[in-house]
Amino acid sequence: MASRTTMEPRELQIPVQKDPDILAAAARLAGEDLCSIADLSSAEVRAILKLGHDVKRNPRDYRHALDAKQMVLMFEKASLRTRLSFETGINTLGGNAIFLDQTNSPLGERESIADVARNVERWVDVIVLRTYAHDTITEMAANSRVPVINALSDFEHPCQALADFMTLEEHFGSLNGINFTYVGDGNNVCHSLMLTGAQLGANVTIATPRGYSPDIEIVTLARDIAQANGCELRLLQDPAAAAEGADAIYTDVCVSMGMEHESTKRAPIFRPFQVNETLMQKAQPNAVFMHCLPARRNAEVTDAVLDGPQSIVFDQAENRMHAQKALLLLLLGGLANVEKFQ
Ligand code: CP
Ligand code: NVA
Repeated sequence: MASRTTMEPRELQIPVQKDPDILAAAARLAGEDLCSIADLSSAEVRAILKLGHDVKRNPRDYRHALDAKQMVLMFEKASLRTRLSFETGINTLGGNAIFLDQTNSPLGERESIADVARNVERWVDVIVLRTYAHDTITEMAANSRVPVINALSDFEHPCQALADFMTLEEHFGSLNGINFTYVGDGNNVCHSLMLTGAQLGANVTIATPRGYSPDIEIVTLARDIAQANGCELRLLQDPAAAAEGADAIYTDVCVSMGMEHESTKRAPIFRPFQVNETLMQKAQPNAVFMHCLPARRNAEVTDAVLDGPQSIVFDQAENRMHAQKALLLLLLGGLANVEKFQ
């Protein structure tokens, strides 16, 4: 397998205002929710990434696209990247963010989720949720007249995956046929990566310990998408085999938020799945290392890999903001206020 990696991020020059994917996505996605990556077609994922690259390169063009739009972030779990990238993102589009800390007051406890939705939609233009139960997000979406965005549930992390594949595009250009490997727990981040990779034509390989495989419904869906896009989805339990010839190796914590009570049990199970220099050597010589962060240093990944020359973890973190700005522009109809789209 030939290496496709160049370590220098590319400048992507795409005339966004004429791009048919972006124009179609702007028409279809206005007012919609993003609960799952599966809410988007392959063309819509491509559109978000293309717009994300342009927003990153030309932020001033979008400075007033969402003037006075109000965003509420309701988070049941801790966050650094997601909260700040949404807040800075909406602020730099002319809007405003209001953060509600739900860590001590889970959604649905004080009043029903439907009643929360019916109140909140009267004041804000978009609801961004970080929850334990995925159903909390779908229930809010079902009852809200303004878009609801999943900012991580126990089942998916779609905004993370959009930023991650945007970052990969900066390194590889087209992702068609790229070999993307995920090693670790088959849960939220893994699910969104599988779906997004398949939508973009990447060959996705997942290596999880037995008992920690991704959800079968997501696997089936991702396989169908992969087949339609001429790429492959493989599920393995051997991290070394999964790393062989990979262009990108990605991992996540083995103890997700809410699973802390399983830390002692999980540590020995996930130890063989650590991404270290030995595992990276099985990948292409210029393969990139990826992590959604926060990382548990020297647990799922060693310092040498996380801080090493192949690591692009902080590019991923930066791109959270650009990809989410693109998403917000599409869900909130913001391109109507951008001069080059007139
Ligand atoms: N990757 C990610 O979602 O980071 P936070 O938990 O800090 O938001
Ligand atoms: N899987 C991790 C991702 C954190 C961004 C968790 O759910 O805690």
